[in-house]
Amino acid sequence: MARPEPADDDLTDPVHENRALQQTESLVAIAGHPLHAMLVAFPIALTMCVLGADLLFWWTGDAFWPVAAGWAAFGAFLMGVIAGITGTVELLIVPGIRNRSASWTHFVLAVMLLSILGANWVLRIGDPQGAVLPLGLLLSVLAAGLTGVTGWHGGKLVFDYQIGTSAGASSRPRG
Ligand code: HEM
Repeated sequence: MARPEPADDDLTDPVHENRALQQTESLVAIAGHPLHAMLVAFPIALTMCVLGADLLFWWTGDAFWPVAAGWAAFGAFLMGVIAGITGTVELLIVPGIRNRSASWTHFVLAVMLLSILGANWVLRIGDPQGAVLPLGLLLSVLAAGLTGVTGWHGGKLVFDYQIGTSAGASSRPRG
C-alpha cells in the first residue's frame, strides 16, 4: 500500500529545530568582531615568511635568512598559540560552534599545525643555519601546506555555517 505523501507543513528541518546549533555568534570579540579572525593573519603570514626565508637561504646561502627564519618561526608559533586560545575559548563556550563536528575538525587540524610550528621553531634554537637543510625546510613546507588547509577550513566554518558571524544591522528588519 502506498504511503501518503507528507504535507509541506509536516516537514521540519532538524538543524533549524535545534536551537543550540543556531547560536554561532562570536563571544570572543571586540564590538562583535571575532578576535580569532583578527589574530590568525599573524601565524598565517609568519609561517609563509619562514618558508620564504628558508628558500632564500637555500638559493643565496646568505646567513641573514636563517636568523630571520628563526625569529619568524618563533612569531608564527607564539601568535598561533594566542590565536588558538581565542579559537578554543570560542569553541567551548558557543553552543552552535561546540555542537558542530566541522569546528572540531578545524581544532584537530590547528593543533597539528601548532605542533609543527613549535617543532620548526625549537629545531632552530642555537643553530639556525644548520637547522635549515633539510629538516627545517621540510617542516616549513609542511607547515605552509597545513596552514593553507587549516585556514581554508576556518573560512569554510564562517562561509558555510556562518560560525562567528552575527545577524548584524544589515540583516535585521528595520523597525
Ligand atoms: C587551536 C585551536 C583553534 C580553534 C579551536 C579554532 C576555532 C575557530 C573558529 C570557532 C572559527 C570560526 C570563527 C570564529 O568564531 O572566530 C575559526 C575560524 C578561522 N580559523 Fe581557527 N581555530 C583554531 C586555530 C586556528 C589556527 C592556528 C589558524 C591558522 C591557520 C586558524 C585559522 C582560521 C581562519 C582563517 C578562520 C576563518 C576566519 C574568518 O574568515 O573570519 N585557526 N577558527
